[in-house]
Amino acid sequence: MAILILGGAGYIGSHMAKMLVEKGEEVIVIDNLITGHRESLSDEVHFFEGDIRDKEFLREVIRKYKIESIVHFAASLLVPESIKDPLKYFDNNVYGMISVLEVMKEEKIDKIIFSSSAAVYGIPEIPIKEDSPLKPINPYGLSKLMMEQTIKWASEAYGIHYVAFRYFNVAGADHQGDIGEAHKVETHLIPLILEVPLGKRQFIDVTGTDYNTPDGTNIRDYVHINDLVEAHYLAIEYLMNGGSNEIFNLGSSKGFSVLEIIEAARRVTGHPIPSEKAPRRGGDPDILVADSTKAYNILKWQPKHDNIDEIISTAWQWHKKHKEGY
Ligand code: UFG
Repeated sequence: MAILILGGAGYIGSHMAKMLVEKGEEVIVIDNLITGHRESLSDEVHFFEGDIRDKEFLREVIRKYKIESIVHFAASLLVPESIKDPLKYFDNNVYGMISVLEVMKEEKIDKIIFSSSAAVYGIPEIPIKEDSPLKPINPYGLSKLMMEQTIKWASEAYGIHYVAFRYFNVAGADHQGDIGEAHKVETHLIPLILEVPLGKRQFIDVTGTDYNTPDGTNIRDYVHINDLVEAHYLAIEYLMNGGSNEIFNLGSSKGFSVLEIIEAARRVTGHPIPSEKAPRRGGDPDILVADSTKAYNILKWQPKHDNIDEIISTAWQWHKKHKEGY
């Protein structure tokens, strides 16, 4: 089947594209390459450079293929940036979603899987279930919640079917080591830690040591990138088989503190990785750990790579081979 990936040259999109090509699907990618990398995609992928807010361009690409489903990753995703520049987030994420839905409606494409985030919950009770209260505490989280709500009403009015995934902390890299996380400005914990053994950074800042957790540092739920994209494939099949609209958490359902992640990175790399206490970043909830039983019950999704050393080890293989990214 022909599957269109929006934002398919990004970290998550490129892993999705690789998996779909390996499963023998026809893969079409749209990416504006602002944060994505053309080099992350193999020659089997049909690639088009452009922006999802450009409806003319979207239509043109869609008309070339018999697209059955859309997987939508194209979004801005940095919490601190969203606080400084909220309109960028509402434009890129919310208006981007409206543009995609309008073209889907016109071109009669009725299936979409898209990325939401644990950031829609704000400061939740743990473990987090899909019906936990939705109280985002930053514009990024609000933009993801607005995307969820926009699609819900569009679905009722135009018969579009959807699955939304609320991601927890996506990490690691494909086991073959050829694609991985390569952000122009890195803000995520695991790649930042690995910059120390790579010699690019002297120590890792532990941003906040007085949180309400056993060791005082934030606890997060790290889910391997290939487990995450596998869930999207299961969701495509689920919608193809007539599944109803659903929203799922995607996490490994295990929590690790920042200090535990640094310790795991020391085990994996064999490097002492010095760390230093630093002030809180602001806007970080104490603990985020998913309850992902709904994805298991309905999609039969189960993370296969939820061992934290394995997650970090795949990231390490990628970063060692690609010190400067692509
Ligand atoms: N951290 C450090 N030092 C650093 C960077 C991060 O100690 O140099 C800590 C953070 O305080 C946090 C943890 O490492 O506790 C993880 O931080 P990341 O930036 O890797 O990830 P976040 O949990 O902040 O963000 C993730 C996604 C976002 C999403 C958010 C939901 O990357 O897209 O979860 O809350 F919005």
